[in-house]
Amino acid sequence: GPRHFLDLNRIDAPSLRGIVDTAATVKRARAGFSQGTRDAGRPLDGKLLAMIFEFPSTRTRVSFDVAMRQLGGETLILKSDEMQLGRGETVADTARVLSRYVDAIMIRTDSHAKLTELAEHATVPVINGLTDRSHPCQLIADVMTFEEHRGGIAGKVVTWAGDGNNMVNSWVHAAGRFDFELRLACPPECAPDPRALDWAKENGARVVVYDDPFAAVAGADCVVTDTWVSMGEEAANRHNALKPYQVNEALMAAAAREAIFMHCLPAHRGEEVTDAVMDGPRSVVFDEAENRLHAQKAILLYCLDR
Ligand code: CP
Ligand code: NVA
Repeated sequence: GPRHFLDLNRIDAPSLRGIVDTAATVKRARAGFSQGTRDAGRPLDGKLLAMIFEFPSTRTRVSFDVAMRQLGGETLILKSDEMQLGRGETVADTARVLSRYVDAIMIRTDSHAKLTELAEHATVPVINGLTDRSHPCQLIADVMTFEEHRGGIAGKVVTWAGDGNNMVNSWVHAAGRFDFELRLACPPECAPDPRALDWAKENGARVVVYDDPFAAVAGADCVVTDTWVSMGEEAANRHNALKPYQVNEALMAAAAREAIFMHCLPAHRGEEVTDAVMDGPRSVVFDEAENRLHAQKAILLYCLDR
């Protein structure tokens, strides 16, 4: 069957290591190239990627589009409300039809079940471009970025402070597959998905849940957070509960001296993170955003270049 990229816990550790290493290799190979030039060999020449968006996107959309062009391929951007999908055509039928036109499908959706249904019925690879449950493409860029700044991630400590959201699930899977310690500091109102914590237990992933964000960051090599209100969520009154988990200079000062700060972006400055941290010397958030491009290439090559 097609080689999908659905979630990190559905791909084995050596394959994921290979994807991160490929991302670093394709990045190095382009040093000094202007963005509009193609990668040597154009490995995805003639390939077409369709991208379905049920939610907005800046990084995922542009990085996949530029990645396909640089690899020699092309893309189609499909907004779900402009498709028959938005008027009730089934996900399964959409998968069957799109598989007759394109070589791969990326989807960003409000429902993880739609992703898995698409993958079940597509005869071409399906890539998870974010669901309510996970964001695995982001983690390839995140692991790559961590390793650029701090060396191999195995055995290191990453602390998440904030909402227990879709990014947390993918961080949990990454902790298992890349063998680092993940500490989760989330308020009880915004606790991580118990299914991810169960997966961690069953698979020997080192995931530790904390109440106190200061205790959680002690000795951490990386502090990471994300928006307090994810796409498709009610803005509801969670800000008071989340306020003590804000990543500010005081929290960063409690981490290891060399600790970096990561955020998948978009950031809500003044909420989950302060300007001083975002723009400070420990922040690697724009390297992280750049690395989405290199990571997408590695994901596309994993799915398509076989
Ligand atoms: N980090 C990320 O996925 O950003 P976009 O929502 O802009 O794609
Ligand atoms: N948790 C955020 C990530 C955005 C890239 C969201 O789902 O909106």
